Amino acid sequence: MTTITKTAVDPQTQLQPAFFYASAREGMEDFLTAVLDDPQEGVLLPAYIGWSANEGSGVFDPVLNVGARAGFYALHDDLSVDVEALSAMLKTESFRVLVVIHYFGRTDPRTAELRQLADRHGMLLVSDLAHGFYSSRGTGGAGSFGDMNLFSLHKMFPVGEGGMITYPRTDLVTSQKSTRPALASTILSYNWASIASARRRNFETIVELLRALPEHGTAFTLIWPRLDADDVPQTLPVRIAGDNRDAIYRVMNEAGFGMVSLYHTLIEPVRIGFELENDLSKHIINFPVHQDVAVDDLSALVASFQMCLKAN
Ligand SMILES: Cc1ncc(COP(=O)(O)O)c(C=O)c1O
Repeated sequence: MTTITKTAVDPQTQLQPAFFYASAREGMEDFLTAVLDDPQEGVLLPAYIGWSANEGSGVFDPVLNVGARAGFYALHDDLSVDVEALSAMLKTESFRVLVVIHYFGRTDPRTAELRQLADRHGMLLVSDLAHGFYSSRGTGGAGSFGDMNLFSLHKMFPVGEGGMITYPRTDLVTSQKSTRPALASTILSYNWASIASARRRNFETIVELLRALPEHGTAFTLIWPRLDADDVPQTLPVRIAGDNRDAIYRVMNEAGFGMVSLYHTLIEPVRIGFELENDLSKHIINFPVHQDVAVDDLSALVASFQMCLKAN
């Protein structure tokens, strides 16, 4: 006989245990320590991973810290996964963990195929949503494929530190422990839907202003020209055609516009053999779209960008 309870009572339905840390990298290290029986089982990562003297590498440091064997796969010039190259690589090499980064909060367009590839090769799929908290926690698009999802909270909320790991594969939870459990209350104290819509509005406004510039398509191109309905940006990435990226970055920051370059320097193991990724890291610049940005200030931001393009 069919019965339906009055309220949900099964604690396992849609359960995704969440753990909180000082940073995403700390959570990644906790995960790797728990799931790798032997560091030689290996971790496969995309070949576009940044490094800085101050911060090291948020993605790669935990892999180094646990002494895991690392491999790298190629990306397309919009930073989506080159699934054909990855499949070819997996015919001859094997890894226990596959990391997919949804750069700047953009859900990788071929995530469903990546899920199948991971299953076919017995790999755990890490969905790196360091930039994609709102892409994942709003409608769930970017967050619905990983065995483990990784979030960098300090990049998306006004907190000095914070990372979160969630486990759709609940059986992967063994020894993991939160080191910053109070962060759960902090992030639930913000209106995620309003933040997401402010970020989308800022992104779309800047894209419109950039498209209207005569330099669009020649002096610079949009790396992420169209925002999908489920995605919420961390920043808006643009590719500068000339060799003036560093000058534009410096002058705009001096003028008070918080531009970043994700990433201006790549980690040492991918500096050879990945030309497209290294070339992009020399030309990329990211516009701020976060929730503190007022839409009325965006014309001045884009005007400053245009002036720098002309002057440098
Ligand atoms: C794609 C990506 N994943 C993970 C991380 C690690 O984040 P966190 O600084 O919270 O350790 C970063 C930042 O360094 C990142 O850019």
